Amino acid sequence: STLEMEVEQIKKGNFEHFMQKEIHEQPDSLTMTMRGRLIRGEQRVKGVLLGGLKDHLRTIRRSRRIIFIGCGTSYNAALASRPIIEELSGVPVTMEIASDLIDRQGPIYREDTAIFVSQSGETADTLQALEYARANGALCVGITNTVGSAIARGTHCGVHINAGCEIGVASTKAYTSQIAVIIMLALALGDDSISSQRRREAIIDDCFNLPSKVRDVLKLDQDMKELAMLLMEEQSLLVFGRGYNYATALECALKVKEVSLMHSEGILAGEMKHGPLALVDETLPIIVIATRDGSSSKQQSVIQQLKARKGRLIVMCTEGDAQSMCPDGTCRVIEVPQVQDCLQPIINIVPLQLLAYHLTVLRGFNVDQPRNLAKSVTTQ
Ligand code: G6P
Repeated sequence: STLEMEVEQIKKGNFEHFMQKEIHEQPDSLTMTMRGRLIRGEQRVKGVLLGGLKDHLRTIRRSRRIIFIGCGTSYNAALASRPIIEELSGVPVTMEIASDLIDRQGPIYREDTAIFVSQSGETADTLQALEYARANGALCVGITNTVGSAIARGTHCGVHINAGCEIGVASTKAYTSQIAVIIMLALALGDDSISSQRRREAIIDDCFNLPSKVRDVLKLDQDMKELAMLLMEEQSLLVFGRGYNYATALECALKVKEVSLMHSEGILAGEMKHGPLALVDETLPIIVIATRDGSSSKQQSVIQQLKARKGRLIVMCTEGDAQSMCPDGTCRVIEVPQVQDCLQPIINIVPLQLLAYHLTVLRGFNVDQPRNLAKSVTTQ
């Protein structure tokens, strides 16, 4: 009805679509996610407070393994934060797509901590995996955006991401808030170690910088629209990432395919020589994520190898690195501000969300309700 349409428009504010609004909301949604949970360290020691977990941190630290379980974007958020959980907790982390865990009836034990990541808290596959893990005696932790959801109720403990209601079918602000929460969990788990204290403090300091850095990277909106204009007629887009930003590659490709209906594939750069290199020619566009971190020199050599095969490259790098990452000046470059390595995926995904958004609008597809997809998949 026209009334419903008017209400929709009011909810969108000054934006044309919910996805666009939710992308631009991220400085605020991240602030909400971190509010009251980070101790700045002026009067007290810098640290993290996660009320819903404080009585379970000892158990999680002592577990034999942490298993992340989710679907779609929520799985990608867990993948992005896996390295920092391993680093700060020392506990081995494995990853499970919920449906695959169920298909395999994979082993889960009492000594495991199973962490369920879900924006809606209602995804049928994730919920079924929760029932399975609980029946096997694992400690079950929920990370959701929905108070009172089935996953929030069915887990032993958990954290709400507080990102605010997300309406666009393609998840954007929930993704960045999920990563922020899992990084805070890593900080809390590492809390008892003196050797990692400086590292944890540096991460906490940068958490406070995140909203303003996200605001900076949102200024790339027009650049991303121009890039989308260049790419809109393409059949396919590859995205190469590694380390902290393997998840960024997967999440960029997921956004591009689900909303713009263009084929896209996220590729672990370390696997390039084992197949994907055969696809490279002068026509196929390839995004390479090469922001500064422990694996950026490896990404630099990936860029050289793709260049040697005349690859059509779009390089995402840290501000000031364009020249060193692409010396011959033939790549298109997306420069982003630097934050601590584990937080960098939060910054890096934002321009790529904008790219997927603009590609969709330019190609004339429905941004907020892509064909055949639902926001919350409650059936199997
Ligand atoms: C659906 C949505 C995705 C979402 C996935 C998991 O497929 O279209 O955007 O990432 O479900 O949803 P959840 O609510 O569990 O995070």
